[in-house]
Amino acid sequence: MPPTERRSTAVVTGGGGGIGRAAAERFLRDGYSVVVGDLNPDRGRELIAELDAADRLRFLEVDVSVESGTEALIAHAVESFGGVDVMFNNAGIGGAFGPITEQSVEEWDATFAVNMRSVFLGTKHAARAMIAGGRGGSIVNTASIAGSTGGGGPQAYSATKAGVLSLTKTTAVELAPHRVRVNAVSPGAIYTELLHRGRPEFTDSWREQIQPWPDRGTAEAIADVVAWLASDEARFVTGAEVLADGGVIAAAPRLVDHDLAHLRTMSGMAWGNTGRAAEVRRLPE
Ligand SMILES: NC(=O)c1ccc[n+]([C@@H]2O[C@H](COP(=O)([O-])OP(=O)(O)OC[C@H]3O[C@@H](n4cnc5c(N)ncnc54)[C@H](O)[C@@H]3O)[C@@H](O)[C@H]2O)c1
Repeated sequence: MPPTERRSTAVVTGGGGGIGRAAAERFLRDGYSVVVGDLNPDRGRELIAELDAADRLRFLEVDVSVESGTEALIAHAVESFGGVDVMFNNAGIGGAFGPITEQSVEEWDATFAVNMRSVFLGTKHAARAMIAGGRGGSIVNTASIAGSTGGGGPQAYSATKAGVLSLTKTTAVELAPHRVRVNAVSPGAIYTELLHRGRPEFTDSWREQIQPWPDRGTAEAIADVVAWLASDEARFVTGAEVLADGGVIAAAPRLVDHDLAHLRTMSGMAWGNTGRAAEVRRLPE
């Protein structure tokens, strides 16, 4: 994949697949050097093998919910490519699910560690590198329509995404004097493994019955928004949430009552595409 022009460095968390991988591919096409961090080494191997960009692409197997993992990722970008210009805090899992009366503290906390602590850590360490570099930067966080609604996802997941939206605003204000912009993208139903888990009809029924826009939400469509937020074209945009949901928020979602109703009959923990199996406990009728 030849670069259009050699520019700057983007770090992508959860870039082994789905939205993160689409963003990594878009950044490569735009001429960035890209460092991808993901917990799933199989996805990392595929990424390196399938993208012909060895000189501008690095993969690190890291857990970005742990501070040393995020520090290693940022340090790698600084050592390999001389700094960090764009940080895409995107790694996430579905996390704890089931009725609130059945959820364990451990699963609740683990969901927050992956979906929200990782965004704090990514912002902290990317901002340090951006400030040290002296040329500003752009941080983009993946939130969700679940972060601003009661019907867009399970309780812990939605709360983490609300937290991501809040952190986006507070850090945008704090980092503005350093010319570091911080924004969030809130996807709707996006056709990735996190959502369809091998069942394409799962997201298609949302599109047909809930989402006003007729096309399926794709990782590439979100990557295009991320690329714009990262770019100089968005130079006056900071502290913003960009909805990319095919009009679902405009139509007011009831996703939990619709396609996620089965989550009320079980509880447990979904580890997303990390390679770790979901833990499922069926509830008595
Ligand atoms: N797919 C959707 O419909 C949708 C909608 C709204 C928001 N989102 C958000 O978009 C982001 C990306 O989701 P996706 O659909 O591409 O999912 P995905 O499962 O395809 O990709 C997520 C990646 O994150 C990685 N990851 C998970 N925990 C990690 C950790 N602790 N450290 C490092 N890597 C880790 C996984 O291994 C996986 O490769 C998530 O934050 C998700 O909550 C997705």
